[in-house]
Amino acid sequence: MAKNTLTVTDNRTGKTYEIPIEEGGVVRAAAFRDIKNGADDFGLMTYDPALFNTAVCRSRVTFIDGDRGILRYRGYPIEQLAEESNFLETAYLIVKGELPDQKHFRTWQHNIKIHTMVHENIKRFMEGFRHDAHPMGMLLGTVGAMSTFYPDAKNIFDLESRRLQTRRLIGKMPTVAAFAYRHSRGLPYVYPDNDLSYTGNFLSMLFKMTELQYKPNPVLEHALDVLFILHADHEQNCSANAMRSVGSSSPDPYAATAAAIAALYGPLHGGANEAAINMLMEVGSKDRIPALIKEVKAGEKKLNGFGHRVYKNYDPRAKILKKLAYDVFEVTGRNPLIDIAIELERIALEDEYFIKRKLYPNVDFYSGIIYQAMGFPMTMFPVLFAIPRTAGWLAQWAEMVRDPEQKITRPRQVYIGESERQWMPIEKRAEPTMREDAVSEAI
Ligand code: SDX
Repeated sequence: MAKNTLTVTDNRTGKTYEIPIEEGGVVRAAAFRDIKNGADDFGLMTYDPALFNTAVCRSRVTFIDGDRGILRYRGYPIEQLAEESNFLETAYLIVKGELPDQKHFRTWQHNIKIHTMVHENIKRFMEGFRHDAHPMGMLLGTVGAMSTFYPDAKNIFDLESRRLQTRRLIGKMPTVAAFAYRHSRGLPYVYPDNDLSYTGNFLSMLFKMTELQYKPNPVLEHALDVLFILHADHEQNCSANAMRSVGSSSPDPYAATAAAIAALYGPLHGGANEAAINMLMEVGSKDRIPALIKEVKAGEKKLNGFGHRVYKNYDPRAKILKKLAYDVFEVTGRNPLIDIAIELERIALEDEYFIKRKLYPNVDFYSGIIYQAMGFPMTMFPVLFAIPRTAGWLAQWAEMVRDPEQKITRPRQVYIGESERQWMPIEKRAEPTMREDAVSEAI
């Protein structure tokens, strides 16, 4: 009978090792430490920059099959959640593992709504940012500062404390995000209106002017809620890994969430929707798409909103967004960039360069077109990603805190620097030779 083991022969010593293949088709990297080339040898280490093929945890939150374009939160297909659910219910599912019944949903809704306000000092803290500060930078700084407002959050091994911070962060993220938007527009901040839905309240804090109560357009409110559902989690993406890695040293969840926001800020991750819109605007018309494709194939540019570490098929979220865009356009008017995006997608998906590399549109390719049509400035696009992803980050963080296998993240390295050398008085030193890979060049 076939054994679930890997038999490894070290040809340096002729020794053979049996390494167990565990559930999920994984072998433990630590097992390779036993493969030594002598008594003093450290043993073998696996090398995997960017963790291209390394599992760092066992998780129950999200399942992705990148080859088949499948995405499920706690086993529920994203297509069904986008069609049938709402963001707050999906956030409950992601955080707690099950869909709520009506009683639990009402309690959850109440528990989130009572945390939508922020301390007045947070408002004053945000007023200290430059008038043109990027909202994502404001979100990053403010969520980090929230760590100083909730010292009780340091009790990360206390379940009730984790639950309270989870409710606080999910409740307050839209408020801080909306305050950042209002700040960038020079408008007075709008306080939460808990008579509205989670997403409707967010729209009110963004766009309410002099009316007594903001009335969100139901089509746009629903579209944004679907966008929130689609962005709520995505297993071990860069920002979730930042949440887990920073969280592994046991700071409070506000500090870990600030680290996740920082990771999401980058144009290769959550900043891609802003980069994709800039790219489409730079192309400007269909007849200039071939020139862009040529630059991309020459390696001079990336096709922003295309490609994915896991999806080697069409990102299921992009499929949903491509249709949702037309619902939004019914209200906002058509965003002409959609025509450029669709033509760019058509050309790319027929081009061997993209086919060979399995590059398809990802969630960021169409989300920016919808956000722009809804009147959001591009600087708000990554913020709109961070709001729903807070639920996913917190679910991943809580799993890490509870996981008995998890310890502080401390990767190893392959040292390629200088061997030992002796300090020399400055008057005896030759001119330093700057090697092209020398980090010191940046100094
Ligand atoms: C998100 O991880 C997640 O789950 C993230 C996310 C989530 O929900 O959390 O899904 C959200 O971040 C989506 C991705 C958004 N980023 C972008 O759209 C930026 C553009 N995309 C690329 O930078 C890239 O596709 C990544 C960063 C998304 C993935 O990069 P990988 O897996 O490291 O792939 P790679 O860079 O090794 O690319 C493999 C090949 C390379 O060509 P060769 O060197 O083999 O010749 O594909 C090429 C790359 O040059 N390639 C692209 C490309 N993406 C990859 N070429 C042109 N345009 C692109 N967009």
